[in-house]
Amino acid sequence: MGYDRSEFTGRPVIAILNTWSDLNTCHTHFRERAEEVKRGVWQAGGFPVELPVMSLGEMLMKPTTMFYRNLLAMEAEEVLRCHPVDGAVLMGGCDKTVPALLMGAFSMDLPCVFLPAGPMLKGRWRDQVLGSGSDVWKYWNERCAGNLDDTAWEELEDGIARSPGTCMTMGTASTMAVLADVMGFTLPGASTIPAVHSAHARMAVACGRRAVELVREDLRPSKLVSRATFENAVTTLMAIGGSTNAVVHLLAMARRAGVALTLDDFDRISRKVPLLLNLRPTGEFLMEDFHDAGGVRVLLREIRDLLCAEARGVGGTTLEEWVMAETLPPLNPAVIRPRDKPLATEGGVAVLRGNLAPQGCVMKHTAAEPRWCVHRGKAVVFEDYSDLKRRIHADDLEVTADSVLVLKNAGPVGGPGMPEWGMLPIPKKLLKQGVRDMLRISDARMSGTAYGACVLHVAPESAVGGPLALVREGDEIEVNVPERRIHWHVSEEEAARRRASWKPAPPRFVRGYGLLAHREVTQADEGCDFRFLGGQGSTPEPEIH
Ligand code: FES
Repeated sequence: MGYDRSEFTGRPVIAILNTWSDLNTCHTHFRERAEEVKRGVWQAGGFPVELPVMSLGEMLMKPTTMFYRNLLAMEAEEVLRCHPVDGAVLMGGCDKTVPALLMGAFSMDLPCVFLPAGPMLKGRWRDQVLGSGSDVWKYWNERCAGNLDDTAWEELEDGIARSPGTCMTMGTASTMAVLADVMGFTLPGASTIPAVHSAHARMAVACGRRAVELVREDLRPSKLVSRATFENAVTTLMAIGGSTNAVVHLLAMARRAGVALTLDDFDRISRKVPLLLNLRPTGEFLMEDFHDAGGVRVLLREIRDLLCAEARGVGGTTLEEWVMAETLPPLNPAVIRPRDKPLATEGGVAVLRGNLAPQGCVMKHTAAEPRWCVHRGKAVVFEDYSDLKRRIHADDLEVTADSVLVLKNAGPVGGPGMPEWGMLPIPKKLLKQGVRDMLRISDARMSGTAYGACVLHVAPESAVGGPLALVREGDEIEVNVPERRIHWHVSEEEAARRRASWKPAPPRFVRGYGLLAHREVTQADEGCDFRFLGGQGSTPEPEIH
């Protein structure tokens, strides 16, 4: 390879796990960033090695990237295990790459720093600012209602993704990057830096330098992660109105770290944390505005009494030292609301339980029209996604604005991979009447950029025989968010009768990764990790003869 012995002897070897690929639209700048990381590693006296890992681009994978999150987590762990490396820089950003890389790193427990891809620039269309995903859903509804022609739609497509980087709404990518920041796995404040900002390149160089120092300090994830790390992440999730996907990912990450986090922790924390960040889809602004308003640090200053300030990160400081630094900019109250003037007094994620979801389900109630938070209506049932696509816009679909749309077989096993189908489309005939939100229930997930009255992650899912599997057309379902209840109005005798005739579908896969996932994936309330991947640390390395 052309290296002289002196170039690597005695130097920490830093793996750069790069999720770049030609089919990951969000990571198109990662080749340059990898070179910048290498520069930093050399500067600090390390030896960089770039190792490509699965890319998981959200846009162009089927059935859903979530199906492969655990595969990337396994790959990251094993790539770090099988090569002669001492530490790592984890390059990710597009939704699942963040939890996947961190899950793998937690299990392998090598010193590491996470390099977030950064949000893309704000979208633009005519005189409108566009937000990734959120404005696609919004304008698609207008297109379905006959209010947007082909030209306007093509202009929208051309203007919504103007640069490399991740979705710039508070979708899953932004949410997970901010949480990685708060958990102490990025350099402090790195999560909001726009992907094409020169500061992003400087941050990449700094990641390289810091990775070398982390090896010298032997600062491993197990020395940083505790219950407080996850409590801080959940608290921040509520204050930013983050993606419901973070619930699944944090549960999985906690399981890897050996921390007993449950859905009840999310609900408990949600009730006491105000929603402060005014970003789409729950609010108005975008990640660039959040960065310009001072980013994560300014937000955390507003809720510092709710955080465990002693938590330490890869940057070397405690949360308290970072958040209370004197150089902090003043609050921009339009983007980050002051504590006494929140957007909502409660966090954005409610956990509901009841006879339809004995193991729980979630609803981002701050992104829904308030009237749907207490509602009882008749179910319009779709057996699976194909059934939904076939019938949802049919003129003869018996549906009113008060109906409850139900989608089955969209969970971790049924999807497979729990696709983001949870924001069921509003039937066209209702769109034409001006309806823009309805109560929807499924065992699917929802894109973090999506919005509406969507009850998600119903567990156990219908494909493994959860009560959702037994719901029929016309059954009444009641949701009460203030009481955290979801109730299926059917007698126990009737439910038992239906259960007696219910049969699971045969496994979709007869071999390979699909069969492994089918057999091993846990339910949403456990994080959808594989059963055999919980816990931390490596098994002893085999002897090499
Ligand atoms: Fe990559 Fe949204 S498509 S973050």
